[in-house]
Amino acid sequence: MKIKANTNFLSIKETYLFSEIGARVRKYSEEHPEASIIRLGIGDVTLPLNKVVTDAMTKAVSEMGVKDTFRGYPPEYGYDFLREAISSYYKRNNVDIPASDIFVSDGAKSDCGNFPDILGNNEILIPDPVYPVYIDSNTMNGNNINLVKGSIENGFTPMPSDITTGDKPYVIYICSPNNPTGAVYTAEGLKAWVDYALKTGSLIVFDAAYEAFISEDLPRSIFEIEGAGECAIEICSFSKFAGFTGTRCGWTVVPAGLDADGVKLQKLWARRQATKFNGVNYPVQRGAEAALSVEGIKACMEAIDYYRANAKLIADLMTRKGIFFTGGINSPYIWLKCPNDMGSWDFFDMLLNEAQVVGTPGEGFGEAGAGFFRLTSFGSSEATAEAVARLDKLL
Ligand code: MLT
Repeated sequence: MKIKANTNFLSIKETYLFSEIGARVRKYSEEHPEASIIRLGIGDVTLPLNKVVTDAMTKAVSEMGVKDTFRGYPPEYGYDFLREAISSYYKRNNVDIPASDIFVSDGAKSDCGNFPDILGNNEILIPDPVYPVYIDSNTMNGNNINLVKGSIENGFTPMPSDITTGDKPYVIYICSPNNPTGAVYTAEGLKAWVDYALKTGSLIVFDAAYEAFISEDLPRSIFEIEGAGECAIEICSFSKFAGFTGTRCGWTVVPAGLDADGVKLQKLWARRQATKFNGVNYPVQRGAEAALSVEGIKACMEAIDYYRANAKLIADLMTRKGIFFTGGINSPYIWLKCPNDMGSWDFFDMLLNEAQVVGTPGEGFGEAGAGFFRLTSFGSSEATAEAVARLDKLL
């Protein structure tokens, strides 16, 4: 053919990290059909949706089967009932977000991947290591990526003073609690980033997908920080909070006042969504609304406590073994230093071959992840206990 492909795609890794891990595990499984493999790799939940959510979804499905309550296309920005429920959810932290600034979507990953659509070619600043979607989606759009390194020294919460590429207007990605390191910014840390963004004319893209795991007195939303309304958007998700990884629902807050060189970003995001997205289906939005009710939050937090207990099991093992780690307290992830200076893919192979435990090699999250490894607490408590017992013998 004579048509041109988007060759920016050739600059990203050929396979997405979790597809690569899936392929390696499938190969091992085919070669060892008797092996009982414990998957602590991808951060996918294992507990079912809670009853508050399923009751609301069941009722909504029934409504869809009755002429008077049937609904066709959902509004592309989300039903008002859900936008209002999300707005109220923010109020628990004294954050005031009007429902009209909230755009419901089929998940944080889509919004992270799609947001570069409404921005021009900017300099991008991304912490390393981090969720691969930020780098991949910006590379697909031909943007120049600058990395700011997370390390043991800065507690994997890099600060503006760690920038080595000069002060300029960046699109700055911040994920807190961080995927993969589990590190969380303090209010002072986030304030430093907001001040930096205001000073340089930068935009912060704040990924709060893991906010529900915060148990200490730490910010859950960038909008808890003064000035963030003038320089930040926030992406959040029902996946980890309410177990919606397969159900799909999330949201993005784009403040009405955000202005990129005279252009209102909210107007562009609304236009982008109206053209390329047809909304989230009614039963799922009713389930999401129910997750944000008082009973829904209680039920979701019970599931989070279950995962927290798994995280503690893994973290306690690392402490006993004297292995450096971050996360596990305000995050479902434990980010550990591979023992004996092993490379992260070597450590991955060792755990798979010798303990049949699957984790995620740190390198998959960026160069600064080399020599580190991520374990998730989203398994069942039985599987996590068994994995911990196997690792106890191996490490
Ligand atoms: C992860 O394991 O990093 C996440 O599950 C990926 C995602 O949320 O898309």
